[in-house]
Amino acid sequence: MYNHSRGVQEQQADELMSKYIKHYEAKTGRSRQLFMHASSLLPSGTSHNIRYFEPYPFFARMASGKYIYDVDGNAYTDYWMGHWSLILGHAPKVVVDVLRERVVEGTIFGTVNEHALRLAEIINRLMPRAEMLRFVSTGSEATMYAVRLARAYTGKRIVAKIEGGWHGFNTDLMHSVNYPFDEPEGKGMLEEEMRYLVALPFNDVESSISILNKVKDDLACIIVEPLLGGAGCIPADKEYLHVLQEYARKSSALFILDEIVTGFRLSLHGAQQIYSLEPDLFTLGKIAGGGLPIGVVCGLKEVMNLADVRGKGKWDRVSIGGGTYSENPLSMSAGAAVLEYLASNRDIYERLEMLGDEVRRGIDRVMVDHGIRVKSTGMGSLFLTHFLKDGVEDVRSARDAVQCDLRMQRLYHFALLSMYDIFFLPNKLGAISIEHDSIDIRRLVDASERIASDMASM
Ligand SMILES: Cc1ncc(COP(=O)(O)O)c(C=O)c1O
Repeated sequence: MYNHSRGVQEQQADELMSKYIKHYEAKTGRSRQLFMHASSLLPSGTSHNIRYFEPYPFFARMASGKYIYDVDGNAYTDYWMGHWSLILGHAPKVVVDVLRERVVEGTIFGTVNEHALRLAEIINRLMPRAEMLRFVSTGSEATMYAVRLARAYTGKRIVAKIEGGWHGFNTDLMHSVNYPFDEPEGKGMLEEEMRYLVALPFNDVESSISILNKVKDDLACIIVEPLLGGAGCIPADKEYLHVLQEYARKSSALFILDEIVTGFRLSLHGAQQIYSLEPDLFTLGKIAGGGLPIGVVCGLKEVMNLADVRGKGKWDRVSIGGGTYSENPLSMSAGAAVLEYLASNRDIYERLEMLGDEVRRGIDRVMVDHGIRVKSTGMGSLFLTHFLKDGVEDVRSARDAVQCDLRMQRLYHFALLSMYDIFFLPNKLGAISIEHDSIDIRRLVDASERIASDMASM
């Protein structure tokens, strides 16, 4: 029986993993071949580190609704959902229809267009703090520009981010992401760059304030995800976010909310509505692009106007934006189609939340029934099951998340993929789309039950 107090029986866990890998390899032969070839052309066979997992990721052929199909003919129920960007599922009709029409009209104009204006209007209507905005092609650019705007507006340098917080691969914010949080994030990253950054422990008001107090005179901004995504699908306490917002106000710094995951996911008006926040700047991505590349920097006119080039020399303006493919008509139209769909079907959030509660409760119940201590965290349609170890009672920060049994979590996710055709990117949160229903949730809970039974007999 799996006994957390004795720790995972490593050898038995390895044996279980070998069984799952064997099963996976038997059904993904073509993917394996392609991956070997890909590895000679692309480092780790991919262009995004987290897409690699052992023994090799399956190669996707197509995706539709809640399913993703691989080159070997397997159909997986997808909870990775394009990095959680597909709230309407894969290839929803509203997006396919608009893209069919648009693509023949040209894929990039490289100049201003009404499709971008329309998406800007919709975002402005749904999220009133987006008094002005700028479109870019990725979330990483959006957060980089938000920080640049904050430094320019305040004339200060230090950025406070959250320990474990993920804002993309830009150099300004690519610090204190992975454990150990105070070590550089890898080669090519300069320690000196961390000089202008402090990391705050999530949901810990006292320690965060004490760190902020040391830098407040040079504090340009506090940037935070309302739900810590990549670091463990952990919702912020309302009080914590309000304390940070208030602290930024009092120290003439900007409060930046990174809503790249949560925007249009937790509610039509983002986490900022749920938490009653008033960020000076915020960032969007993922859902806002309707399944096509996008990032958006949004915020108050007074700050965003610094980017207006008219009548200014380079010393008087902030250079944000740029990007050959920014405001391309395809991303703009797909994003608008999805947001309009969401705005006219507001009841979907209630349903997604219900399914989210069902899945969190269901997985925890079957695991605990088998003597496995877990905690499924999340909010609305986002969720992740953590395998608790001795001394960890709850998961409220990135530190708590890394103290959980990540190996068991990987085993669990890989078992779902290999044995039950249910796809989570190992160790990453899952997202429910409107294509998923109660039957899918029941299937996921039943599969978790069977995996729990395997684990319990280790
Ligand atoms: C909260 C958050 N911010 C920023 C990013 C970066 O977005 P992109 O991958 O589009 O660069 C991500 C990506 O997952 C994210 O989760």
